[in-house]
Amino acid sequence: MDSNAIDAQDRQALAEAAEMLAGGATVAFPTETVYGLGADARNTAAVEAVFAAKGRPSDNPLIVHIADREALDPLVTEVSPAATALIEAFWPGPLTLVLPVRPGVLSPLVTAGLDTVGVRMPAHGVAQALIREAGCPVAAPSANRSGRPSPTTAGHVRGDLAGYIGGVLDGGPAGVGLESTVVQVQPDGTAVILRPGGITAEQLAAVLGSGAVSATPGEEAAARDAAAEDGPAPRAPGMKYTHYAPRGWLGVVRGATPQRVAEAAAARLAAAALSGETTGLLLFEEHRALYPANPAACVRSLGALASPEEGARALYAALRDFDEAGATYILAEACPETGLGAAIMNRLMKAAGGTVIEAGE
Ligand code: TXA
Ligand code: MG
Repeated sequence: MDSNAIDAQDRQALAEAAEMLAGGATVAFPTETVYGLGADARNTAAVEAVFAAKGRPSDNPLIVHIADREALDPLVTEVSPAATALIEAFWPGPLTLVLPVRPGVLSPLVTAGLDTVGVRMPAHGVAQALIREAGCPVAAPSANRSGRPSPTTAGHVRGDLAGYIGGVLDGGPAGVGLESTVVQVQPDGTAVILRPGGITAEQLAAVLGSGAVSATPGEEAAARDAAAEDGPAPRAPGMKYTHYAPRGWLGVVRGATPQRVAEAAAARLAAAALSGETTGLLLFEEHRALYPANPAACVRSLGALASPEEGARALYAALRDFDEAGATYILAEACPETGLGAAIMNRLMKAAGGTVIEAGE
């Protein structure tokens, strides 16, 4: 189903999916970021089915999706001027705003007991039509089994969730390929990025002013959250879990120059292959020539380092390809954490469980 051209057959599928959602079933659907697994956000049994299908811990809240700006006010108690500025600049689009939830409107499972709710308006024709037709706010996490890479195609969704969900609307490959940016606006009008994503820190700063956007919580903070299982609730609860991971072991390789990174990676991959591992390598196109022939059993490219949109779009499919190839030892090149590169590195680091190999000078 193409987001721009919804034909008669698609309309039928959409109508059926909307009816299922309104009736309390779960339906996976395309958005511009990744596929989501939707349920009526007011219906606790439906939301429970989403958590069950994903195997998701119940303390990790869901994002609520709306199709119109007017649908926001009934869900939240306040939209600050800074939040309004971000909405005007980036909705519909890959930005989730964490706002004070209006008590009693949504199933308490959606917010996992927090007094806030993450809301976003997806920029995808199918998602918008589905939400409008269902006539309810749609709670939708990424439509993957908990811990797996997010799905960027309907096939990925079926691979993870067939048999556990009501159905899947196929809208072709997701455009952005990484999830939305999750932002919490502070009382002083500054914004904290809880999860980097499709809207970059630079884009947010262009609206709120540089200095008004604080960087992604660093890996240090993520590790602290992971360690402090009994500690204070992390601000983006989802970020404390190992996520996006392929089945094999994954390490991120960083170094002073691409040459050093390639040398270190190639040497480790060769050694791993000798000791019986099935190897995988995730590289950027510009660096391909720095490796010897066939550096790994499965080589995937994140496209040009110069255009991180390509990498964002390709990342999750590449991680799933390593699973299909049976890769047990995978190395991934790091990239600069500017623009969308910040979101790519965030997901790679989470997928690697924080394992970094320093290639040195
Ligand atoms: O692009 C996306 O955001 C996709 C598509 C389907 O819309 N959805 C998505 O949902 O990525 P999910 O559930 O996989 O990730 C939601 C993230 C989690 O890290 C969660 O902890 C955080 O958003 N989150 C949700 N509600 C929150 C809240 N009230 N406060 C802080 N973090 C919240
Ligand atoms: Mg997810």
